[in-house]
Amino acid sequence: MQHLVDTDQLSREQIHSIFEDTRRFKEKLPPPLLSGKLLFTLFFEASTRTRSSFEVAAKRLGAEIVHLDPSRSSTKKGETLEDTFANLCAMEPDGVIIRHSENDSPSRLAEMEMVPVINAGAGNYAHPTQALLDLYTLWEWFEGDLEGRKVAIVGDIVNSRVAASDIRLFGRFGMDLHLVAPKPFMPVTDLPRHERIEEILDEVEVIISLRAQLERHKKPIFDDYAEYARHYCITEELLDDRGILVMHPGPVMRNIDISDEILDDPRCMVMDQVRNGVYVRMAVLKLLLLDANNFYRL
Ligand code: CP
Repeated sequence: MQHLVDTDQLSREQIHSIFEDTRRFKEKLPPPLLSGKLLFTLFFEASTRTRSSFEVAAKRLGAEIVHLDPSRSSTKKGETLEDTFANLCAMEPDGVIIRHSENDSPSRLAEMEMVPVINAGAGNYAHPTQALLDLYTLWEWFEGDLEGRKVAIVGDIVNSRVAASDIRLFGRFGMDLHLVAPKPFMPVTDLPRHERIEEILDEVEVIISLRAQLERHKKPIFDDYAEYARHYCITEELLDDRGILVMHPGPVMRNIDISDEILDDPRCMVMDQVRNGVYVRMAVLKLLLLDANNFYRL
């Protein structure tokens, strides 16, 4: 049984196959390959993009999807996550998609080996489908030529599951990653670190801006978001005429993470990421629910 807790569970061949399927699905929607399949989503944290993107992806492939609302579920009455999951599995779904604040929630459920588990964001540990759609967006833009591309990840990196997954995945594809953050936002890392984006602005081809999560820091780092923005917001003034692609996993805090002008600028890839996310998730669902099953049956 194949799960997706993070992308290290995917071989390079599987990632290429996800990207080829994504490209094909973008050109022409496939027939309902997952007709008769049933998915549950279990989102213990808020989501706009990931949950709806999985739902659209499942429906475009003909699968049915049922959303459990944890705020109205029996976890509120003290049922453990494992018991909730086991009860849902007794209804014989073909996969469960989970978002949770705890880093190890998806892996704990995956270890139960009941149905394929897909991590839709766990703590600050991993967000594998976001990393796949981020990499796909660059793979498409650079026509597969990713080796050595210089990417700056900017902002609250230590709290970001997207950054954690991007770092692991992009590294496998030979990308040259640089982390840009104030010291308290910087994780323990062997990667090159910078306190100011200006230090590498003339070299980078891609900036991945992250949501400032000042509320997650115990000690105040900045007086307010305006002070953070003065140093880390991606603006027209900062980019000037440099041809740098600007990405962000969302939700974007306007004029704190990225300025209004840059959000409307052709260099901004945020909506491309969201659009690609549906097709990438279609390819992931196909891989886990169809192709992996066929592989294991051989
Ligand atoms: N990128 C992302 O995880 O967005 P949501 O929180 O809206 O799902």
